[in-house]
Formats: sequence, C-alpha cells, structure tokens
Amino acid sequence: MAVSIFKKLPDLVAPTLTIYIDGHAVAAERGETVAAVLLREGKTASRTTPVHGSSRAPYCMMGVCFECLAVVDGVASTQSCLVTVEEGMRVERQLGRKKVTQ
Ligand code: FES
Repeated sequence: MAVSIFKKLPDLVAPTLTIYIDGHAVAAERGETVAAVLLREGKTASRTTPVHGSSRAPYCMMGVCFECLAVVDGVASTQSCLVTVEEGMRVERQLGRKKVTQ
C-alpha cells in the first residue's frame, strides 16, 4: 500500500461518496477535487509524460501547471484539480500518450 503525506481533515457534516480510481473504490467527500483524492490516496503519479514516461503529480492545484491530467469519466487530459468528485466517477491515471477515441 502506498503511503501518502496528504491527509484529509475530518469534516463531520460532509456526505461521503464513492469514486473509482483505476478500478478501485475510494471514499471521497463532496467538494473535494479529484486531484486531492489522488494525492490523499498516495498515487505516486497522476500521469506520465507521453514522450519519456516521466511521472507527474498534481502541483499547483489551481489549473496552471497541467501536471494533474487524468482520464475522468472517459475524458482524457482532464485537469483533475479543477473537477470535484461525483458519485460513481471513474478516474484513470493517464499513463503515456492519451488515447484518441471517436
Ligand atoms: S495541479 Fe496544476 S493544473 Fe492541476
């Protein structure tokens, strides 16, 4: 199991929901961003670069650096720091070149 330095402070009134990261069910709270959940869950990389495969993780958390790109509900290159979680959301880490779907 991966170890994360990021921990969510308890919010006793926030309703919880379930999202799926790489197919694994993860508890989240309404209002959290997908990037925050990825960091909290200790994923070592939210994506890898298309050319060299270098690992990248959310950094700015405000839509500037584009290091948090992930596939969210089938949409590649989504800035996960700008998307709040929704019940049943499916998130995949974006590894390598994005897949083009038609
Ligand atoms: S963490 Fe920088 S754009 Fe999302």
